[in-house]
Amino acid sequence: MREAWIIDAVRSPRGRGKPGVGSLSHIHPQRCMAQVLNGLKDKVGFDPADIEDVVAGCGSGSGDHAHDIARMSVLDAGWPISVTGVTLHRFCGSGQQAVNFAAMGVMSGQQEAVVAGGVEFMSRYSPIHANGFHANNEHLLERHPQVPQGISADLIATIGGFSREDVDRYAVESQKRALASIEGGYFKNALVPIYNEDGTLALDRDEHPRPGTTLESLEGLKPSFEGMGAAQVDGYPKPFDEMAKDKYPQVDRVNHVHHAGNSSGVVDGASAVLVVSPDYAKAHGLKPRARIRQAATAGTEPLIMLTAPGPAAQRCLEKAGMSKNDIDLWEINEAFASVVLKFMKDLDVSHDVVNVDGGAIALGHPIGATGGMLIGTAVDTLERLDKSTALVAMCTGGGMGTATIIERM
Ligand SMILES: CC(C)(COP(=O)(O)OP(=O)(O)OC[C@H]1O[C@@H](n2cnc3c(N)ncnc32)[C@H](O)[C@@H]1OP(=O)(O)O)[C@@H](O)C(=O)NCCC(=O)NCCS
Repeated sequence: MREAWIIDAVRSPRGRGKPGVGSLSHIHPQRCMAQVLNGLKDKVGFDPADIEDVVAGCGSGSGDHAHDIARMSVLDAGWPISVTGVTLHRFCGSGQQAVNFAAMGVMSGQQEAVVAGGVEFMSRYSPIHANGFHANNEHLLERHPQVPQGISADLIATIGGFSREDVDRYAVESQKRALASIEGGYFKNALVPIYNEDGTLALDRDEHPRPGTTLESLEGLKPSFEGMGAAQVDGYPKPFDEMAKDKYPQVDRVNHVHHAGNSSGVVDGASAVLVVSPDYAKAHGLKPRARIRQAATAGTEPLIMLTAPGPAAQRCLEKAGMSKNDIDLWEINEAFASVVLKFMKDLDVSHDVVNVDGGAIALGHPIGATGGMLIGTAVDTLERLDKSTALVAMCTGGGMGTATIIERM
């Protein structure tokens, strides 16, 4: 099979995802994605008419994110009308799946040049977004009861024995690493500043990190999902904690350890990655930065939901004929601290090589955009640290995991 090469990867800064507070929240998500697409085009210097498809992940299909946000962003960007766009939904793994699908299209010989990534403005969720994952399907709710992700993260901590101090310690390190990478200018290569309609700058740096976060400063934060776990929500048979205990009878009590400081930040943002065939790159004088060696997914039990990054990573390694010792750097999405702690424990991987630039706890997790951002960070960090191979994995709603192995070129 032929190879799929990453020529470059860019992203917007992550703005705080609160309406009227975040510096991107007044901008339409299509406008932001359009600016990121043009940022990629200007950085690489490709002709957008060559792009056969733009694949964008988006975890919300309603309100300002409705319909096919990929195609609308292509049109908003002023790219030729011949360039198509397709939007896909694999919950938090949408952006990573977009890059994986782009790689598959190129590897199979069906496509020569594809842009993949995603967009999510969490500040602009419409109220109907809040429905449960089962989307009012009573049969599914009975067959596979699912609870909000924060409860799942707390359940992982409970079963895994991760204490409040463990998850807080992880969060402090995420903030420390993100700050070091910001101060070192390591994110600059990927950042596309986002502008307002009048041409003034809206945002050119990540605005979610909280420098100065310490174990002591996190100590006072109240668990975010304790009340939610105890509440009886309309349409559900029992409170969420009781549903969790029914599924996992070994649990006496869900230990609610996650809060605003050790959960992924709610933010706005967009990402774009150029994936091309070797023939296209050579014909256009484009220098590849990395090759996509392998992609995989895995599914696990959907109530605990966030446990599949490990199985997805293992399947990805097996399919590539590699072992974990072949991986120099790991980007494991920090959806919640317990997700990464479980991953590191199960795969016996040291925190020294996981999320070396921090992650979503400090930087934020703009759902559909994050996968493209993590792959871009992995490429930048492999180059900076002179390493060769990275594995990116994410947990998603519905109990799935996405994984990608990339090799620096
Ligand atoms: C956990 C969560 C519910 C918290 O949301 P929130 O309460 O709106 O969070 P905020 O940013 O307003 O922070 C709440 C408080 O914590 C404080 N805080 C947050 N991070 C902090 C830090 N690192 N250090 C100290 N204080 C911090 C804030 O200052 C704020 O305090 P205030 O109310 O006195 O101003 C939200 O971040 C969340 O849902 N995250 C996960 C998103 C998700 O599920 N994504 C998909 C994953 S699979």
